[in-house]
Amino acid sequence: MVMSGPVGVVVVAAGSGTRLGAGMPKAFVPLADWTVLDHALVRVSEAESVGSVVVVAPQDRLEDAERRARLVLDERFAKRPARSLAVVAGGASRQASVALGIAALPAAVEIVLVHDAARALAPAELFDRVAREVAGSGAGVIPVLPVVDTMKRVADGLVVETLVRDELVAVQTPQGFPRAVLERAYAAAAEEATDDAALVAAIGVPVRAVAGDELAFKITTAADLDRAARLLGPDWAAIGRRAGVGIDAHAFGTDQSSSAVLRLGGLQWPGVPALAGHSDGDVVAHAIVDALLSAAGLGDIGGVFGTDDPAAAGAHADWFLPRTVELVGAAGFRVEHVSVEVVASTPRIGPRRAELQEVLSSLVGAPVTVAATTTDGLGLTGEGRGIAAVATALLARP
Ligand code: CTP
Ligand code: MG
Repeated sequence: MVMSGPVGVVVVAAGSGTRLGAGMPKAFVPLADWTVLDHALVRVSEAESVGSVVVVAPQDRLEDAERRARLVLDERFAKRPARSLAVVAGGASRQASVALGIAALPAAVEIVLVHDAARALAPAELFDRVAREVAGSGAGVIPVLPVVDTMKRVADGLVVETLVRDELVAVQTPQGFPRAVLERAYAAAAEEATDDAALVAAIGVPVRAVAGDELAFKITTAADLDRAARLLGPDWAAIGRRAGVGIDAHAFGTDQSSSAVLRLGGLQWPGVPALAGHSDGDVVAHAIVDALLSAAGLGDIGGVFGTDDPAAAGAHADWFLPRTVELVGAAGFRVEHVSVEVVASTPRIGPRRAELQEVLSSLVGAPVTVAATTTDGLGLTGEGRGIAAVATALLARP
């Protein structure tokens, strides 16, 4: 039997995580700054074969689950708009949760992969491998790993028998089934089974084993969570990172009065003329604002703060930067780092670099590093007619 219909994944994440004991449902426990569920969904979304996703979450976590799933799936699925997402409440047992998830699959789905969110690092290829095997065979399919330890049956502290290790495997998820088979198996289920394949086998449908993956281990205890965090290493965060660039330039103003002192990077520069321009002409602050807004997809300073906002007219860096960081936060980002280069022949930045970095870092709430160049006498800045700044911002999704 060969099947080619759309593939749906049911990700069960409605368990309480008693053995992990983190004081919250396991799928929502932080893992390398994201959650267990986020990591599982990233891999689901990378699987070529997957067409729709159903997340089964605890009743009181539905909103959070939906927000997280959209964040991961919308970004990842953007190139494949045919995919769909549903988030539904789970039941008292894993089996009940799977049943509720199956019921929420779109009608077109013909192959179902059932996956534990707790197997957060199960790689995308594993989903594709299982789906392919279901499509090719029409059977149930489970990913398995050989057992390495000698296995024995023990009762009341006494060994009853030594099992034949060659015949034993450890079973993982995602487990895949033709939808009609899985629905039949669940309809016929008399009592709780430990996995979906057991229910399918119980109605007489063959279940095939394919190679599992070490990474598909289930996070059950605190030691498992540690292992997952170690395996992820520091590179996980790139998934949610955004970079932005901002540029601003102004000519020195014609106002030579002593009150018209240059404001640059949130500092005053006595003896240096002010820059002309809307607000205080602080090109460093404005370049940083543009870099932050651009990274968060919020546009630029002109569009956000507008030249007709009276509050912005006389505003300094200590007005613009905290407000921008707030907007960036509301858009779901945290500022990780800002780098800004000042292009000017006057003033000299070097002697006040440390002070600049300190002030800007405190206004942005993240490290801001400052560099400077003179452009060798070329252009508006080199001729000493004005100052420019170029900033980059790096944002992360917490
Ligand atoms: N699960 C579920 N609904 C339940 C129970 C479990 O959706 N009523 C899900 C879990 O969220 C998990 C998967 O089934 O992704 C495997 O279950 P397990 O590892 O046992 O997770 P928990 O039941 O949350 O953990 P524990 O048994 O330690 O409480
Ligand atoms: Mg459980």
